[in-house]
Amino acid sequence: MTNIGRLYSDRAGKMRKSEIRELLKVAQDPEVISFAGGLPSPNSFPLQDLQGVVKSVLEHHGKIALQYGTTQGLAELREAIAERACKDGINATAENVLITSGSQQALDTVGKIFFNPGDIALVGLPTYLGGINAFRSYESNLIGVPVDKDGMVVDALEEKIKELQKDNLTPKFIYVVPTFQNPAGVVMPEVRRKKLIDLANDYDLVIVEDDPYGKLRFDIPYIKPIKSFDDEGRVIYMSTFSKILSPGFRLAWTIASEELTRKMIICKQALDLCTNTFTQFIANEFMRSGSLDLHILKICEMYKPKRDIMMCAMKKYFPEGYICNKPKGGMFAWVTLPEGIDTEIMFLDALKEKVAYVHGKAFCVDESGSRSMRLNFSYATGEKIEEGMKRLGTVIDKKLKVLC
Ligand SMILES: Cc1ncc(COP(=O)(O)O)c(C=O)c1O
Repeated sequence: MTNIGRLYSDRAGKMRKSEIRELLKVAQDPEVISFAGGLPSPNSFPLQDLQGVVKSVLEHHGKIALQYGTTQGLAELREAIAERACKDGINATAENVLITSGSQQALDTVGKIFFNPGDIALVGLPTYLGGINAFRSYESNLIGVPVDKDGMVVDALEEKIKELQKDNLTPKFIYVVPTFQNPAGVVMPEVRRKKLIDLANDYDLVIVEDDPYGKLRFDIPYIKPIKSFDDEGRVIYMSTFSKILSPGFRLAWTIASEELTRKMIICKQALDLCTNTFTQFIANEFMRSGSLDLHILKICEMYKPKRDIMMCAMKKYFPEGYICNKPKGGMFAWVTLPEGIDTEIMFLDALKEKVAYVHGKAFCVDESGSRSMRLNFSYATGEKIEEGMKRLGTVIDKKLKVLC
């Protein structure tokens, strides 16, 4: 066998497979109740509505919708996104918007633009695993900042920045998922968002604001994005159609200064020339007809009871001593178990009981998170959630008994 591996670049040699992708493979066993993936409910996909939209796009725009498009993305879609962003308090025009093949591509692009090997970014403990993977593929040095019930702890962030400064080091950016964070489910209040912007201004840093879940809000007043407080063009905002329409569309967007947007366009040209033109037309029509807003309401109505079933089942089946803040939106609950439990080790026991989750360490750039796990409540049906939590409760119970 030829050893092609010897030809890999140093960068490729250091790349690691995504733990979540591997877990999703195991969790595909139909007998396993999976709280592992970050999947929307397939019952949320607006199949019938989309049939009409697809037909209309093909009839009216077929010859353009099936063609290559511009790298920045369909102008009408960018305009519609910019209009919506303005309603959220973000000062943007279509020129500030770049359509990407999923937010994952946007994260990769950010990594490509900012990192030389060894460059530093500050990220939450815990934070989105896909962000960690994207940034690490550019050989960056990710430094963790604690996350509490109100998101990233900004005072601790400033401490870290000062510590780095003592060694003449400056982070390139701060990566945050401020609303219904993946994985911790927490929301950063407005006061903290403003403090974060002040800090970025004071220390001349970029903020990467990743917001896939902001619209999936159940029982909390609306909070403006960090980008809406950005007077200096230092926030790269990103959001996606993955959780509010369909992840299969692979459609997302960034909102940034025109200068940063131009740089990201150049970067994207080499990645894929342009985002899927067909799904851009579909999303544009779906959004402009008002269907998207109605659809988001339906998704929230679908996910809120699932969240409630999960939280009730947790109380019913989990032994005492766990900590979980009830998520007020999004798709995830973050549970921390009593001392002595390692959720990575316990995962094999959970699989034997036919239930899956993602262990906390996967989301941490240091060694923390070993007692925690992320549970997704959007994918499984209510009955499966109840049964899966019962199974998980049994697994934790057994583990604790062995520890006693
Ligand atoms: C915080 C966060 N960012 C980005 C992504 C990637 O989303 P997309 O499907 O748009 O690539 C996800 C997906 O789960 C996510 O949770």
